[in-house]
Amino acid sequence: MVHFNKITATYFPNIGIDDFSLRINKGEMVFLVGPSGAGKSTVLKCLYGDVNIQKGVLSLEGSDITKLSIKQIQKLRRKIGIVFQDYRLINERTVFDNISLPLRIEKKSSSQIKLRTNEALYEIGIEHLAKRFPNELSSGEQQRVSICRALVKKPVMILADEPTGNLDPEASIEIVKIFERLSELGITIVMSTHNHSLIQNTKHTIVNLHLGTRVLS
Ligand SMILES: Nc1ncnc2c1ncn2[C@@H]1O[C@H](COP(=O)(O)OP(=O)(O)OP(=O)(O)O)[C@@H](O)[C@H]1O
Ligand SMILES: [Mg+2]
Repeated sequence: MVHFNKITATYFPNIGIDDFSLRINKGEMVFLVGPSGAGKSTVLKCLYGDVNIQKGVLSLEGSDITKLSIKQIQKLRRKIGIVFQDYRLINERTVFDNISLPLRIEKKSSSQIKLRTNEALYEIGIEHLAKRFPNELSSGEQQRVSICRALVKKPVMILADEPTGNLDPEASIEIVKIFERLSELGITIVMSTHNHSLIQNTKHTIVNLHLGTRVLS
């Protein structure tokens, strides 16, 4: 489904990842690990069209995303959900409104928005939180809301950058379990983490990045 073929991505003059190759199958769950600066976030940004790819081929469902126009990248982003360490929820809006935001951006009808948002709330098991506001929730609950917002678009893939970075061990395990369940439903999950206890004994793929800071010469 995804193939990084000798990808070099740069933040000129810094190198984010260099000559990086990886294949990911549909529904696979991949953990990106490695020291700070190794390129974990950069790998995720490549998949979201958010970093300059200087060399290599990056195919997603058969098309080379290094060759896409801005319009095509916007279309690609509709198929991908993103989850961040700091949730990035709008505190002035209810959980329901936060989750339905991507559908409103896509100008879905209000009945479609209601139906799909309720489905997504139910899939993540947070329907009881729908009317609350983000700052009335625990960190783990906020992260589940953010995963639900990523899920609402029925993505083919979810990218999660340190999604458990602000969570205690129990809430972190809960988040990984949710991602496992989504991957069993066929959604590809790529998640970066510093938390080695989360991936001990995992049956999923672990990709170790080692690069460290490099500068183009
Ligand atoms: N916006 C940027 N501008 C310049 N250089 C950057 C930028 N973002 C990342 N880099 C460089 O790219 C390399 C990879 O960074 P990246 O953020 O992908 O690492 P990471 O593995 O996600 O690190 P961390 O664990 O700290 O989140 C690093 O050397 C970093 O300094
Ligand atoms: Mg990072």
